[in-house]
Amino acid sequence: MSKKILVLGGAGYIGSHTYVELLESGYDPAIVDDFSNAEHKVIERLKALTQRDVRFYEGDCNDAAFMEKVIGTEGDVHAVIHFAAFKAVGESVEKPLKYYENNIGSLLVLLNKMTAHQIPHLVFSSSCTVYGEPDKLPVTESTPRKPAESPYGNTKQICEDIIADCVRSKAAIKAIALRYFNPMGAHPSGLIGELPIGAPNNLVPFVTQVAAGVREKLTVFGNDYPTPDGTCVRDYIHVVDLAKAHVKALEHLSHLNESNHYDIINIGTGEGNSVMEVIKTFEKVSGQPLNYVIGPKRDGDVETVYANADKAKQVIGWTSELTLEDGLRDAWRWQQSLKEEDSQ
Ligand code: UFG
Repeated sequence: MSKKILVLGGAGYIGSHTYVELLESGYDPAIVDDFSNAEHKVIERLKALTQRDVRFYEGDCNDAAFMEKVIGTEGDVHAVIHFAAFKAVGESVEKPLKYYENNIGSLLVLLNKMTAHQIPHLVFSSSCTVYGEPDKLPVTESTPRKPAESPYGNTKQICEDIIADCVRSKAAIKAIALRYFNPMGAHPSGLIGELPIGAPNNLVPFVTQVAAGVREKLTVFGNDYPTPDGTCVRDYIHVVDLAKAHVKALEHLSHLNESNHYDIINIGTGEGNSVMEVIKTFEKVSGQPLNYVIGPKRDGDVETVYANADKAKQVIGWTSELTLEDGLRDAWRWQQSLKEEDSQ
């Protein structure tokens, strides 16, 4: 029988792609999501993409009674992948309690339930935001964390520490925190991708919306950083590669003999690309010029960050395969499919 995996936040951007990869790797995933930052049609799209029914539970991962019911209904759960969190950096500054309550609360509920029900494996979504502006590049997992720049970033640090403490207390949990760099792209089928509500905060969805005519122009946040072309540098990781990293992390955890384990792994390509490189690559793959202007720097932006992804290769046997070009092409295909849907 296939192993059951609970995907908390499985209707979201990274969660939905991971759902597909889990299924393709022979697991039996079920989605838990409150649809606060996802649309119900994601479920229909997943059904179309996988040609299978989708098992999902609608509710709040902070609600212990709801989670108890989910786990009770599922029965023998092999692992949980926890994506269910708020992620808008700016909003977290305005509404810190919302972020602390949701992002930390849901992890506490989960760890309690995992212990009570003897669910042995956890993969947790962390972020390269924990490195802040690093002193040395590329960043490895032992690069010191910097004080968080936002409540959102702080929730990621605190959650990492909670998992570490829990494992240190000899709870029978094997966990990996994956520190994602900058996820982008979409499934090559064009059936799932990022669905930002309102104006996107992130670069790639903003770029595709400008190209599609949903927004007038992109503002490049600063071009006088001490980088080769003056714009900020990031490590853009294709969401399908990122999704596969979760499957690899799970496989690794399942093969460990000890019942108690915690590790942290960077998930990035190992390469940095500037905002201008993203724009130029997008123009190449879409075959159209992008309307952009240079604007002021954005508060709190890190100048350059990219991963050393060696540990992912050594420990879980994962490396990125897809390129920035692939990601931008897939993101563009996805944006166009949304436009077609709107016009129908
Ligand atoms: N950018 C623009 N214009 C835009 C949007 C972004 O120039 O309209 C630039 C940013 O200044 C930055 C780059 O594009 O240089 C990437 O910005 P994103 O907002 O896409 O990503 P960030 O690197 O700022 O943030 C991402 C995640 C966060 C996470 C952070 C960790 O979205 O959740 O990485 O560094 F906390």
